[in-house]
Amino acid sequence: MQPEFDRRRAQLMAKIGKGTAIFRSAPQAVMHNDVEYNFRQDSDFFYLTGFNEPEAVAVLAPHHEEHRFILFVQPKDPDRETWTGYRVGVEAAKEQFGADVVYSIAELDEKLPQYLEKSDRIYYRLGRDRTFNDKVLKHWQQLIRTYPKRGTGPVAIEDPATTLHPLRLIKSDAEIELMRKAATISAEAHNRAREFARPGCFEYQVQAEIEHVFRMRGAIGVAYPSIVASGGNACVLHYTENTRQMQDGDLLLIDAGCSYNYYNGDITRTFPINGQFSPEQKALYEIVLEAQLQAIAQVHPGNPYSQIHETAVRVIVEGLLDLGLLQGDRDEIIKEEKYKPFYMHKTGHWLGLDVHDVGVYQHGETSHTLEPGQVTTVEPGIYIAPTIKPVEGQPEVDPRWHGIGIRIEDDVLVTAAGHEILTSDVPKSVAELER
Ligand code: GLY
Ligand code: MN
Ligand code: MN
Repeated sequence: MQPEFDRRRAQLMAKIGKGTAIFRSAPQAVMHNDVEYNFRQDSDFFYLTGFNEPEAVAVLAPHHEEHRFILFVQPKDPDRETWTGYRVGVEAAKEQFGADVVYSIAELDEKLPQYLEKSDRIYYRLGRDRTFNDKVLKHWQQLIRTYPKRGTGPVAIEDPATTLHPLRLIKSDAEIELMRKAATISAEAHNRAREFARPGCFEYQVQAEIEHVFRMRGAIGVAYPSIVASGGNACVLHYTENTRQMQDGDLLLIDAGCSYNYYNGDITRTFPINGQFSPEQKALYEIVLEAQLQAIAQVHPGNPYSQIHETAVRVIVEGLLDLGLLQGDRDEIIKEEKYKPFYMHKTGHWLGLDVHDVGVYQHGETSHTLEPGQVTTVEPGIYIAPTIKPVEGQPEVDPRWHGIGIRIEDDVLVTAAGHEILTSDVPKSVAELER
C-alpha cells in the first residue's frame, strides 16, 4: 500500500504548491471515566498516511528543501504500551510509512515552524480540539509578527477540504477493492439476517446476526449503528434502538453496513418477515424498487448528480398518484415538494472512508457531474407513519397504509461505461423476497 499513500500525498502536494498542510490524527476518545472507545482514525489523516494511531500529526511541505512529508508520532514507551497497546514509534514509522523525517509528538512546537516559515499559506482544518487549534494559530501569529524580517511566511489559513476532498471523491483501484470487500461483507450479512428473521424474533437478534458476519469476515465493525426497524419503526429514519419483537405481517427494514479497513458499505433492504407482502406493502414496495432502478440507471459519467434524486422523486410521485395517496398535477407536486410527507430525504450520498463521504454535490446552481471512480448510494424510500400529515389540499391517508416504511439502498460505483452496483448480491425483487 505504500506507493498508494505516496501517490495520494504527491497529488495533494502538487495542488498546494508553496503551502504547508497540517493534518491531525483523531484523538483517543474516552467513553466514560477512563474506559476508552475503540480508536477510529480521522479519515483525511488516514487517507494521506495510512497511520492508525492517535496523538499524531502529519505535515506536508512540498516546498521544503529536505522534508516534504513529516510525521509526529507517539514515541515507544513500553510502560504505557502495556496499558494502551502497541505504538509504531519514531524509528519504525519512518520506514513503514515513508516519511522523510519522523519526530516525537512532544517536539511539535519546536520543529513545526521550520516547515511553515517559507510557505505562503497553511492548510489546516479548524477541528473540535480548541487547544490544538490554538497551537496552530499561535504558530501562525508568531510567523505573521516576524514576517517583515523574512518577507516570507503564511499569509492565510485555508481549509484543506477544497483541495483534498476532490481527490478523495475519486476512488483509486486500491480503494475500490476495499469498497468491494466492504460491500460484499455487508451483503452477506443482509442475506444472513433475512434468512434468520421470523415473526417473534427481536430486532436486536437480527442485529446480532448482521454484526456477527461483519466481525467474522474481518470488518472492523459497523459503518454506522445498524438500523433494524420492523413495522412502524421503519418510518423513523434513524431508528437504532432495535428492541421490538417482530410481528407476523411486518415488513422489516434493515439499513446496515460494515467498515472494512475504514471503507464503508451501506445497504438497505425491506422485506416481509413472514415471506408474503400484503397488497399495500407490495404496491408501495414496487414503487420504491422502480424508483431505485430508474435512479441507478442515471448513474453514468457526465450525468448531473441531481438527476439521481430527480428521477427517484418522479417515479415515487407517479406511483403515489396512481395509488391515490397524492392527487393533482405531477410536476406541481414535485415543484412544491408536496410528496415530502412520504419521502423526506435525498436519494443518495457519496460513500467511501466516511459513510456520508466528502465531496461536493452542487456548485452553486449547477449539480456536480458524475465521473468514473465516484461511489454513491442510491436509496429512495416511502414512509407512511401513522402520524403522517399530508400537505394542504392532499388527501388524508387511509389507515390501511399506516406504519409502512420502505427503503432500498445500494452502493453504486461510477465506471467509464456507466456504473457497477457493488451490493448486488442482496436480492430485492418481490419474487426473490417472497417465500
Ligand atoms: N445508513 C445511513 C444512510 O443510509 O445514509
Ligand atoms: Mn443506509
Ligand atoms: Mn446511505
